Order: sequence, then structure tokens, then C-alpha cells
Amino acid sequence: MRLDFLPGESAVGDMSAPMPSRNKSRGSSAGAKRDGLRSSGRGRGGGKGFATAESMSKAQREISVSEFFAKNRHLLGFDNKRKALLTTVKEAVDNSLDACEEAGILPDIHVKLEQADSERFIVSVRDNGPGIVKQQIPNIFGKLLYGSKFHRLKMARGQQGIGISAAGMYGLLTTGKSVRITSRTGARSDAHYYELQINTKTNAPQIVKDTTVKVEWPHGTQVQIELVAAYQKGRSSVDEYLELCAIANPHAAIEFIDPAGVRVEFPRGTETVPEPTAEIKPHPYGIELGVLIKMLKESKAKTMAQFLHGEFSRVSDQTARTICEKAKISSRAKPSRIGTHEAETLFKAVADTPIRAPATNCLSPIGPRQILAGLLKGVEAEFFTAGTRPPSVYRGNPFQIEVGLAYGGALGPDPSEAEEEASTSEAVVRRGKVVREARPAAQAKLMRFANRVPLLHQMSGCCIYKSVVETDWRRYGLSQPGGSLPLGPLAVFVHMASVWVPFTSEGKEAIADYDEIRKEIKLALQDCGRKLQAYLNRRKRQRYDSDRRNVFGRYIGELVNACGEITRLDKKKLAENLLAIAKRVTARADEEFGLDGKVKGKSRGKKPEDADGEYGENTVVVDRGSTASGPLFVDVARR
Ligand SMILES: Nc1ncnc2c1ncn2[C@@H]1O[C@H](COP(=O)(O)OP(=O)(O)OP(=O)(O)O)[C@@H](O)[C@H]1O
Ligand SMILES: [Mg+2]
Repeated sequence: MRLDFLPGESAVGDMSAPMPSRNKSRGSSAGAKRDGLRSSGRGRGGGKGFATAESMSKAQREISVSEFFAKNRHLLGFDNKRKALLTTVKEAVDNSLDACEEAGILPDIHVKLEQADSERFIVSVRDNGPGIVKQQIPNIFGKLLYGSKFHRLKMARGQQGIGISAAGMYGLLTTGKSVRITSRTGARSDAHYYELQINTKTNAPQIVKDTTVKVEWPHGTQVQIELVAAYQKGRSSVDEYLELCAIANPHAAIEFIDPAGVRVEFPRGTETVPEPTAEIKPHPYGIELGVLIKMLKESKAKTMAQFLHGEFSRVSDQTARTICEKAKISSRAKPSRIGTHEAETLFKAVADTPIRAPATNCLSPIGPRQILAGLLKGVEAEFFTAGTRPPSVYRGNPFQIEVGLAYGGALGPDPSEAEEEASTSEAVVRRGKVVREARPAAQAKLMRFANRVPLLHQMSGCCIYKSVVETDWRRYGLSQPGGSLPLGPLAVFVHMASVWVPFTSEGKEAIADYDEIRKEIKLALQDCGRKLQAYLNRRKRQRYDSDRRNVFGRYIGELVNACGEITRLDKKKLAENLLAIAKRVTARADEEFGLDGKVKGKSRGKKPEDADGEYGENTVVVDRGSTASGPLFVDVARR
């Protein structure tokens, strides 16, 4: 069937228009409309306000990156006033922690929020880092996409070079006030003080004030940004961010003064600075074909063997030769001469060749001990366990997953105990019906971290959330409604450490859903889940034995009396003996656990190699009734 359309008309357009009758369509209104369209040149452009190629070409212009982000500030985490405050604090604190760690300094961070007006706040963040050299200050704070972390493969909190300048730009856009920076690089020099604005048209800094000032602190940087914002405690607040930050960074001391002047301190839990990380080259596994072709074209290496050995990590000379052999490419061929087809065979050969796992020195995982230290400090639970997976690779980028679980204690009652309590508790009458009500168990609390930075938004779009939901928690003794987090007094800590975290947006709020990452998170969760299961099983057995003892105890008196009537005997002695038997049979009910999760006194006589925690490695059980969390934290952190 042939359909005749006029230029610029579509079948859809025709069909959606009122259907003119056959007679009418000839000549009158519809025909006139068609004529009008033809003469107005909808296909060729021109009159009636439609554009032509020429008029459109006049409107073409380059877009400055600052203008783009000023319009799309939601992409950077500035979509509402409350979030804007959090993002500003987060960007400044992340930079401070990065700078201190890179310089091997134990971070002392001071965060202050002052309310200037009903909707205006002044955010001040000061660190004791190495400071910033004078020449770099304007570009760092007054130019988007300027930073030291984008071009290297090394684990850091920041990576894009947008963070702090975007916060400054938001402040300028909403209040017209400049960003104020004070930075001192050493005790022998004065601090530099700058007031800066960002020119969004040119994406360049405008210096409003440039002077030196005297400050008490020997080195470090202070950033002050005035912005329109809203302060509210609770979920996704500045308070929560700093609390979580303290958990993931037990080596940092953080002081926070809220708008009401209330001072909150998060003391340092360990005196050890995280190991410095090394910059690495990409690992050949997972590198994309397009990237490989680009690398071949741009490489200055003289031979393929040199290229593979020099541009990738973990490729020895021997491995490079094996890859070339498999790809049927001479190891002496010039990389820039390799064609697309050869590059494809090379790409397949790389995947077929066993290559050592990526080096771990580019990553600085928190480590199970420190995770336990952080959790013990921040979560008042009973059972704690943690684990770090070996490094893995996604798209050529090494990464490592760490998981921590905290269960019970102040997180809430064990759901099975709560059920029992509810069934033994008195029934209540509701709307004329007698009912026994058990409160539904709350969902587990999920704490997400990427390179030690807490992630507080976009939870359901995050790979971490998806992995936790996809893990079958019923296997480990918890209930879990389909497609949701497990239920119970559980806190789940998941950390991804990587040289490049694949965030879903520039706001760095959620991790993209890569299969490799999801798999690793699930494996780490399963490891910890098994330890939790062992603990829950033991508790169940303990409860069972204690119930048995109670029942037995109830009948001892009667048994002794009955026996005493049959034959003459020492009733007191018989009662004592029976009680001793009951205690022996149900001895599990009395078991107490040490800090390391071992049953107290049980490791005596055991060989040291099998004296591991009762529930596996890196497990802590805290008797909340008798011990406070503070001193425990220090003990574990320093062990
Ligand atoms: N407090 C600080 N002390 C020392 N250097 C700093 C400090 N704050 C920022 N910098 C430097 O300024 C650069 C730019 O910071 P910015 O926050 O804009 O980007 P980034 O941290 O590299 O990446 P991201 O956009 O992911 O935060 C950093 O790379 C760092 O080198
Ligand atoms: Mg940053």
C-alpha cells in the first residue's frame, strides 16, 4: 500500500487530525491547511516562526560546563535546600579527609553551621591537612572540572574535580556571596586568604579579595560558603553524614557545631593513618575494546610487548608475549599500526590469558578490625562481624568490597523472642475482638559507603541496595519479604573501595549496577551472613536449654517430695543432685562470650590454631548488660 504524505507530515499527524469527509477534503479547509503548510515551507523552514537551517545555525553556541551545571544543579546534589546543605558539607569534608590522608596526617576536621537568616547558612569546614599552594586556590574553588584526582587511578573520595567549586557556585547563585578560603601550608608562612566567585560564562575564577592573614593553626585549609539551605536533623542530615563518616573513618577526629551552637564530638578511634595508596595502571581484564584501540593509537611504545607490559598493571614480559602469541600478532609490532581487526583479536586474547589479580596497593580498604571498631563506636548492638573480600576488577578498575553486620542490642529485640513475648503476653481487646499483637520487626538499617564516604541518597538505585535485597537472608535465620531488605535488629555496613567508583551521577549518590560489583557484594554478605547464622543458632539453642531447665526446675520440688514418700531419703541432697544434673544437661544456657566471639573458658586446652572465634574470624559479641561500648572500641581498634 502506498501512502502519500506531504513533506513534513506524518501518518500519526494525519490520523490524529479530525477526519474530514471525502467531499469536504477536496478544496475547502483541510486542503487549505495543506496548502498553507506547503507555502509556509514547513519542510524548508522560513515563515510563521519555524526555523530554517540558517536561523538554527545562528543559535549554535558552545556551552560552558559551569552554565550547564548551574542549570542542572540537581545532578550535583543541589536539588533542594536540605540536600544542598548536606552536599556542601560533604564535599568540603571529603576533600579535607583526602588531603590529610594523602599527606599522612591524622585528620582533625571542624565543621560549623551558622544560621545567617531564616534560610541562609554559613558552612565552615577546617582541616589540618597540608594546605593548598597560593597559585592553585583560585582554580580549585572557582573552576569546575579542575582537580588533582581525575587523571589518576588511585583510591580517593573525590574523583571528578567538580565537588567544592560546585558548592561555591551554588552559594554564589543563591546568595551572591563569594567563597572564602583560608589556607596555610606551613608554620613558617602566613595563611593566604581569598574571596572568590565563579564566572559561569567562562568557567573561570574571579578574585574578589586576595590577602594574607594570621591564623593560629600551623597548616590546613578552611572553606566558608554562604548558601540558601535548610537544616533538619534525622535521615540524610548533616548529623547522620558525620556520624557515618566517623564510623567509616575511625582515624579521623571530627568536631561539629550545629546552628543552635550545640557541639558534637566524634573522637578518633585509632591512631593509625590508613596506608598510603599507590597510583596504578589499568588492569587488562575488563578493559573495553574502544579504550584498547585508543590506547594502541596513542601509545608511544615501540613494540606490542612494551605496550602491554608498560600500559597495564600485572602484565609481565612473559604474559605480554603469551597474549601476542594467542592473538597471532608479533610482539615486536608497532602498537600504533595495529588495525581494528587485530585489536579485536588482541582483546579476545587478553580475556583468554591468565593474568595475576590487580595489585592491592592502590586500594586502602578500611579492614575488618577497623570496621568493627567503627561499628562498635557507632552502633549499640550485641553481635558484630566484618569481612573484606580480596580485590576484584570491573572494566579494568580494581575494587574491593567490605561488609560489616551488627545485630541485636539497641537495634531492637530479636524477632523470634519478640514473638514469644507477644504470645505469652496478655491479650488485648480491639474493636470487640480479642487479639494478641506482635509488633512487626523493622527493616535492617543499610549503611552504604564508597571510598569511605557515606552515601545517603538514591538508595534503591544503588548496586549495594540491590545486592542486599538479592541476598537470601532467610538462609541465615532472618525473615525477608520478597524484594526488600531483611527484617530484624540488623545494621548492614557495605563499603566499596576502588580506584574509580562508578557513580550513577555527578552527585556521587549511588553506585552503578555492574555485575562484577554485585557479585562481590553478595559474596561478602554471604560470608558475614554465615557467621550471623552461627550466632543466632547458638542463641536459639541457648534459649531452648534455658527453657528446658526452667521446666525441669519447676518439677524438681514435686519429684523430691514424691520420692521422699516412697522411700526415706535426704530430700535436700536429692534436690541438689537433680539441680546439678539439670544444670549439666542444659549447660549451654550459661555460656558467656568473650569480645572475640569465643565462648569464655572454652578455648582452654585448645590448640592456638583452632582457637578462632566461635562464629569465625573478626566477630565480636558484646554483653550489653555489663559493658559499655566506649572502652571496647578502643580495645579492638588498638589490638
Ligand atoms: N582541603 C583541601 N586541602 C588540600 N587540597 C584540596 C582541599 N580541597 C580541595 N583540594 C584540591 O582541590 C582539588 C579540587 O577539589 P574538588 O572537590 O573540586 O574535586 P575533587 O575532590 O578532585 O573531585 P570531586 O568532584 O569528586 O570532589 C582536589 O583534587 C584537591 O587536589
Ligand atoms: Mg572533592
